Amino acid sequence: MKFALMVPFLLLGLGLHIDVRAMPIIIKYSHVVADVTPKGQAAIKFKELAEKKLAGKVQIQVFPNSQLFGDDKEMQALLLGDVQIIAPSLSKFDQYTHQLQIFDLPFLFDNMAAVERFQASPHGQSLLTSLSTKGIYGFGYLQNGMKQLSANTPLYRPQDAKGLTFRIQSSDVLDAQFRAVGAKPKKIPFSEAYLAMKTRLVDGAENPWSNIYSQHFHEVQPYIMDSNHGVLAYMVIGNAKWWNALPPDIQKGLSEAMAESIRFGNQVAHDEEATFRSHVMAQKHVHVLPLNADQLQLWRTAMQPVWKKFEQDIGQDLIQAALQANR
Ligand code: LMR
Repeated sequence: MKFALMVPFLLLGLGLHIDVRAMPIIIKYSHVVADVTPKGQAAIKFKELAEKKLAGKVQIQVFPNSQLFGDDKEMQALLLGDVQIIAPSLSKFDQYTHQLQIFDLPFLFDNMAAVERFQASPHGQSLLTSLSTKGIYGFGYLQNGMKQLSANTPLYRPQDAKGLTFRIQSSDVLDAQFRAVGAKPKKIPFSEAYLAMKTRLVDGAENPWSNIYSQHFHEVQPYIMDSNHGVLAYMVIGNAKWWNALPPDIQKGLSEAMAESIRFGNQVAHDEEATFRSHVMAQKHVHVLPLNADQLQLWRTAMQPVWKKFEQDIGQDLIQAALQANR
């Protein structure tokens, strides 16, 4: 049997359900947020660009809002070949590497520009390729924005969070961050977060403005603090075996489309963060509360001891490099 004819069978043997001989190649890109968010817009842009560059050769199917897989299942689905591209938050890689936990350290990055500088640095770029041994191909980093605390009550000082339950992503750093202020963290998939807030299974949460607005979290968490205490960013990843088996011309077209879509998504994250915030502020019964420098310092002092706890796993050199990105 000629090699080209054998490829589909070889891939099936690898547990991948993709036939690279059949045209167009169907590529599923699954994520958990709304189309209007930076990630949602980047995924749509990728579809447009890839299908234009590789007309008739690829078909990109985008599944937003956890329609295909929730964030608790998507990584496994990627490794099994049930989906080809996903873009999990950097908080959701705990099982695969401890180094990406750096992005969850509270008050480490001053702003998203610092996050981008760190990601573009040799340290950041080596994290991007570090997952290849786990079967994960890293296309690039995608931004969302700084996270804001929200709750049913105002949270001016860390003491205000004491005893409250907070929805968190599946990250041990975020778990420690809320324990540090005497709160009770609860790991809950993104698609279940709204209901958890509405039914008061949790009292509070932390999200960037685009997610607060597009998931209507403000309807069930009327107090939102401008805390900017942490970061929500993503890594766009593919199944490495699937990627490596693609013909070179397809890889080239997809790489170009992906790079351009990530640039586009990052521009959206930058340009539209303030707009999402103002959309939230315009809603009835919502209180967006600024925190003054003294209040922010109290939160920083309470949460920062978490760095020490994870320093060894993450690496002191990496933390120093991240701090330097603040300039
Ligand atoms: C979350 O679970 O809060 C986020 O990771 C969702 C997302 O993908 O923005």
